[in-house]
Amino acid sequence: INIRQATMDDLLAMQHCNLNNLPENYQMKYYIYHIVSWPQLSYVAEDHKGRIVGYVLAKMEEEPSQAPHGHITSLSVMRNFRRLGLAEKLMSQAQKAMVESFGAKFCSLHVRKTNRAALSLYKDTLKFTETEVEKKYYADGEDAKKMVLKF
Ligand code: ACO
Repeated sequence: INIRQATMDDLLAMQHCNLNNLPENYQMKYYIYHIVSWPQLSYVAEDHKGRIVGYVLAKMEEEPSQAPHGHITSLSVMRNFRRLGLAEKLMSQAQKAMVESFGAKFCSLHVRKTNRAALSLYKDTLKFTETEVEKKYYADGEDAKKMVLKF
């Protein structure tokens, strides 16, 4: 499995992967916005036939009130390709690019408080810390944990 920067040509496959793996879905224009604005920050995992089996969609937050920081909009890996280290690699690539290309001071993300696999990835493997709970963050009423990793 190969990890590389995402391009415009990958967006439909990334959206397909997202629809398969997560209830948080986005219009194509939101994917395009990410790739046009921060082309360095989004990555895909592709199998030997060039099929997209995972992605990370990431952006910068540039509010004047806060230090420049990256944000993980969405991450997922297709079921048959999980527990191979792909999510960890996708996240590491995005985090590195946030620092090198945009001088990010930290990275933030939201995760469902019942999402055990993702929480373990973020906390145990990537060393994010939980900063707050955002009540009813998701459309179905579930709370989000906001997590941050300082660079
Ligand atoms: N249970 C417990 N720990 C897990 C699990 C799991 N099911 N999956 C991953 N981890 C932890 C482990 O510590 C693992 O290391 P190990 O395999 O050496 O024990 C570590 O994370 C790294 O795992 P990866 O293999 O890199 O993770 P994977 O490629 O399987 O992807 C992901 C993890 C993205 C959470 C995947 O399960 C998935 O796509 N889930 C559905 C979509 C999702 O929940 N996405 C995240 C939403 S939050 C957001 O998008 C900002």
